[in-house]
Amino acid sequence: MPEDFVVTPWEVKGQIDYDRLITQFGTQRITEHHLEQIRKAAGDLHPMLRRGVFYSHRDLDWILDEHRKGNKFALYTGRGPSSGIHIGHLLPWFFTKWLQDKFGSTLYFQITDDEKFLFKDFEELSEATKVGYDNVLDIIAMGFDRRRTRIFLDTEYIHHLYPIAVEVAKRITFSTTQAVFGFENSNNLGEIFYTSIQAVPAFLPTVEAGHEVPVLIPCGIDQDPHFRITRDVAPKLGYPKPALIHNKLLPSLLGPGGKMSASIPASSIFTTDSIPQARKKIQDAFTGGRATVEEQRRLGANPYICPIFASYNFVFEPDDGHLAEVERTCKSGERLCGDCKLELWGKVEAFLERHHEAREKAKDRVDDFLVRD
Ligand code: TRP
Repeated sequence: MPEDFVVTPWEVKGQIDYDRLITQFGTQRITEHHLEQIRKAAGDLHPMLRRGVFYSHRDLDWILDEHRKGNKFALYTGRGPSSGIHIGHLLPWFFTKWLQDKFGSTLYFQITDDEKFLFKDFEELSEATKVGYDNVLDIIAMGFDRRRTRIFLDTEYIHHLYPIAVEVAKRITFSTTQAVFGFENSNNLGEIFYTSIQAVPAFLPTVEAGHEVPVLIPCGIDQDPHFRITRDVAPKLGYPKPALIHNKLLPSLLGPGGKMSASIPASSIFTTDSIPQARKKIQDAFTGGRATVEEQRRLGANPYICPIFASYNFVFEPDDGHLAEVERTCKSGERLCGDCKLELWGKVEAFLERHHEAREKAKDRVDDFLVRD
C-alpha cells in the first residue's frame, strides 16, 4: 500500500500514522511498564509521557537499568538552525529540561549550522551560523543547568568532532545512505557525509570520560534514521549504542495534515512573535468546531483533529483533570471554539512573556553555555 505520509529528517508531510512509523522505523512503543519505571526513578511523570507525546523509544530499558545501577546517563539533543524557533521545536526541549532536572544529566546540545547550509536552506554558511546563534538564546532561555549543559555549533567545535566523525564515516557506505535517506547521484558530498557529524555527540560523553557513558537522545521521531545508523556503527567503534526517546510532532495551527513549520509562519507561534502577532495566530487557527454555534451546541466539536486542543494536550495544560474537562466540554458542545482559544491564549501569552524576558537575559549568558574549539 502506498504511504499517504512522509517522515524523513528533512521532510514531513501528510497525515502521520504514528503507529505505522514505529513499524516502519523499527522502534519500540513506550509501555505502562516504562512509565512505571520512570515514575519510580524520577518521582513523577512528565505530562508528555503520561499523554503519549513521547511515545516511542530505542533501548530505554537499558538507560533505566543503568540509572538503577547508579550509572549516570548523559543527554544529547540538537537543533538544525534553519529559522527562528517555534513552539513545535520547544517540545523536546521542555522534556529534555525535565530529564536534566530529574536525573542530573549532562546535556550535549548540537547546533548543526553545517547541515542547514548543506541541505540548501542558505546561500552562505555564515547565515546558518548566525541563525544558530539566535537559536542559542532560545535554548538558554529554557533554563538548562549552566554547569551541566554544553551547547556547540558544528562549525565552531569541529576539532573536537572531526576525529570521531571520520571513524563513523568510514563505517557507513554510500548504499546505506541511499537506503536510509533515499540519496541519489545528485546529492552533494556534504549531505552524504552529514550523518557522521550528527552521530558524534552520542559518543562524546564516553570519549570525554574515558569510560562507557550511557546516552539518551530525546528527539522528534523524524530524526530517528540518523540514529539508526549511529547505533549500527557504535559497537564497531567500541561505544555503547545511544538510546532514544521520540516525540510526535506538534500539528499545524492551520489544520489537519501538517506539522508546525518554520516556512509557514501562520502554522505556529514563534518565540519572537510579538504578543499581538501570536494572539492573531491563535484567533485565526483551524479548530475541530462546527460551522455554526447552533450546530456545535447540538452536536459537539472534535478535539482530536483540533490544533488548539493539541496545544493544550502537548504543551500548555499540565493538569490532567482540567485537560479532561476541556475534552469533555468540547465534545458535548458546552465549550465553543472562541472561548477555548481565549483560554489557551491566556496560557500562551504568559509563556511568551516569560520566554521573551528569559531570551533577553540569555544574550549575556551565551559564553557560559557555549563550548568552542
Ligand atoms: N538534524 C536536526 C535538525 O535538523 C538537528 C540535530 C542534531 C538533532 N543532532 C540532534 C536533533 C540530536 C535531535 C537530536 O533539527
